Amino acid sequence: MKNVLSAPFMVDMIRTATDMYSQGWDERNSGNISVLLDETEVKKHLDIPAIVRVIPTGFEAPELDGKYFLITGAGSYFKNVQYDPKKNLGIVRLAKGGAEAEVLWGLSDGGRPTSEFPAHMMSHAARMKADPENRVVMHCHPANLLAMTYVHTLDEREFTRTLWRMCTECVIVFPDGVNVLPWMLCGTNEIGEATAKEMETARLCVWAQHGVYGAGRGLDETFGLIETAEKAAEIYLKIAHLPILNTITDDGMRLLEKRFSVKTREGYLE
Ligand code: 13P
Ligand code: ZN
Repeated sequence: MKNVLSAPFMVDMIRTATDMYSQGWDERNSGNISVLLDETEVKKHLDIPAIVRVIPTGFEAPELDGKYFLITGAGSYFKNVQYDPKKNLGIVRLAKGGAEAEVLWGLSDGGRPTSEFPAHMMSHAARMKADPENRVVMHCHPANLLAMTYVHTLDEREFTRTLWRMCTECVIVFPDGVNVLPWMLCGTNEIGEATAKEMETARLCVWAQHGVYGAGRGLDETFGLIETAEKAAEIYLKIAHLPILNTITDDGMRLLEKRFSVKTREGYLE
């Protein structure tokens, strides 16, 4: 008898949602995660049953047709994921060019995929083009990045440069920078399309006055990406109102680029 709850991707997902809640990034039902699953891996741990339910998605994503995703449910509380994964998570397969999500497991109380399903799926499609090994899209509401969008210009280059200067590791962890969307209505195809566009050039996209999106090859990597940007935002908020006496210079960042073999976003260093 296969037990999907012991599949490595499931264990990883439950641990990550729990860690995100512990960080304070996911109050109430806030935040959502989607992980692109390998079909053979899914079949190793789940008897693919007759489809449990078919949910119209309201968008198209032909590149993702037939792909399997582990996702959080709309309205699911991250703090409860570990206690009732079958209710709060779901395994779905996209069909009809992305217009339908076939529920294969989970969402057991009749729930739907996260309300941010369009932003997740469109971001997967965009990131897959930039990096064929991308597997994860993660959204949450970390307080410092969110707070920063009230007091800092939303210009992407300026926003990125400020974060890069806050800790030495920032330019190494996100050399591609942080893109920023102005406040928009969440849960819509419009914000999904706008986010996916931003995801073509960076793995982080801040939603002003709302939260952040991160993308990566694995859950740890994506968690770490958000964690690093959030820490930088925290430092910014600690010092923004104080006279700044020292900083990391652009020449310093060039040394980091060389030492850690990363390439900063074109035109972002002076
Ligand atoms: P869901 O509960 O539908 O995932 O929504 C949470 C959220 O963060 C909306 O942006
Ligand atoms: Zn949100």
